[in-house]
Amino acid sequence: MKAGVGLFSALALFLLMGAVFTQTTRPRPKKPTRRPAKKPFVPQPAVAAEPEPQEPTDFPPPILGPPSIFPDCPRECTCSPTYPNALYCENRNIRAIPLIPPRTHYLYLQNNYISEVTAESFVNATEIRWINLANNRIHRIDKKVFEKIPALLYLYVQRNHLKEVPSGLPASLEQLRLGRNRISKIPAGAFNKMGNLTLLDLYHNQLSDSALEKNTFKDLKSLMQLNLAHNVLKKMPAGVPNSLIQLFLDRNRIDGVPKDYFKGLKHLAFVRLNYNQLSDKGLPKYVFNITTLLDLQLAHNQITSVPLFNGHLEHLHLNHNAIESINGTQICPYSLQADLSDLSLVPRLRYLRLDGNHLSPPIPLDVIMCFRHLYSIVI
Ligand SMILES: *[C@@H]1O[C@H](CO)[C@@H](O)[C@H](O)[C@H]1NC(C)=O
Ligand SMILES: *[C@@H]1O[C@H](CO)[C@@H](O)[C@H](O)[C@H]1NC(C)=O
Ligand SMILES: *[C@@H]1O[C@H](CO)[C@@H](O)[C@H](O)[C@H]1NC(C)=O
Ligand SMILES: *[C@@H]1O[C@H](CO)[C@@H](O)[C@H](O)[C@H]1NC(C)=O
Repeated sequence: MKAGVGLFSALALFLLMGAVFTQTTRPRPKKPTRRPAKKPFVPQPAVAAEPEPQEPTDFPPPILGPPSIFPDCPRECTCSPTYPNALYCENRNIRAIPLIPPRTHYLYLQNNYISEVTAESFVNATEIRWINLANNRIHRIDKKVFEKIPALLYLYVQRNHLKEVPSGLPASLEQLRLGRNRISKIPAGAFNKMGNLTLLDLYHNQLSDSALEKNTFKDLKSLMQLNLAHNVLKKMPAGVPNSLIQLFLDRNRIDGVPKDYFKGLKHLAFVRLNYNQLSDKGLPKYVFNITTLLDLQLAHNQITSVPLFNGHLEHLHLNHNAIESINGTQICPYSLQADLSDLSLVPRLRYLRLDGNHLSPPIPLDVIMCFRHLYSIVI
């Protein structure tokens, strides 16, 4: 009886919403946060949220800081007595990295004009854990730099002029950000032995299928977040690690997903394939039947029918495709004949975007009955 009430209230909600569906020009319901609440431990890659820092356009003279209480503090940088392990050299019009003091653990060099990273600056700075070199003009990183800093954890080199992934990166790395460079090449073994890397960001580069070997990612046994969005891939990247939680491939030219592609990815929760060339032909029927998946984004493709997905999925983006009709009996991951009083059988989908397709309201009743947990639908 209880379930019956639930069903009726869900129906009432949908009928109410029906009034909104028919007015397609009305403002859309607000998009919920992208991250479903149930997964607290994976940070979102900063790429999406980070505001674009201003690209330096000129070479004014370096700003020299006041004399520091630390005699080894480079004049271009600031050394704080409160944080003796941090060296602040960001936004300083620096063109060459100064000599880094040995006590440095955290090195901030972002938003400068640095064009090369050479070993001399790091000769005694063997304790560094984090380096931020974002938004410079780096086209070369000497591999000897890393021989000196074997315990490096975070390396941020996004927004630079690199043409390939640097060689000789330390095996200790946990985060590597190389987004917004001009990378078209990954040297063989570039990620070898990096068993602790959890985040690899190669967003907005020029990587094509031929740049990714079958074993490129082989050693990345802890990798949770892989961002290859905004490259020129035509195929799904091969051999991605089984530890992945997030796989972002938006804005490539991918036209299909191999049948067993996601098999073995036992932790995968977030998949983004927006702005690709996916059509029904390239999507095997059960390819998205992945029990761990929470958020699937397939917007701006050429899909004509709603793909089958697993009942655990919570967010589904199918906007701006070529979908003409939606049939609850076909898309509902569980049979509607099932006992609907068992709520664990009801699909958990909460957010569905279908706008920008060729659908006309009203939403069929079987669809409404299938998605009783839905709180937001954009059509
Ligand atoms: C590095 O450390 C050694 C030994 O402490 C010292 O002799 C040398 O001058 C230092 N090099 C630089 C460039 O500071
Ligand atoms: C990887 O992380 C573990 C646990 O923190 C640590 O013991 C190990 O030394 C790390 N590996 C490397 C190559 O730094
Ligand atoms: C979908 O996945 C579930 C859970 O892994 C499995 O039991 C079911 O057989 C799969 N359905 C199809 C049609 O592959
Ligand atoms: C939906 O699909 C089922 C099974 O293929 C079919 O029997 C039913 O007629 C379809 N419903 C509509 C409204 O097209």
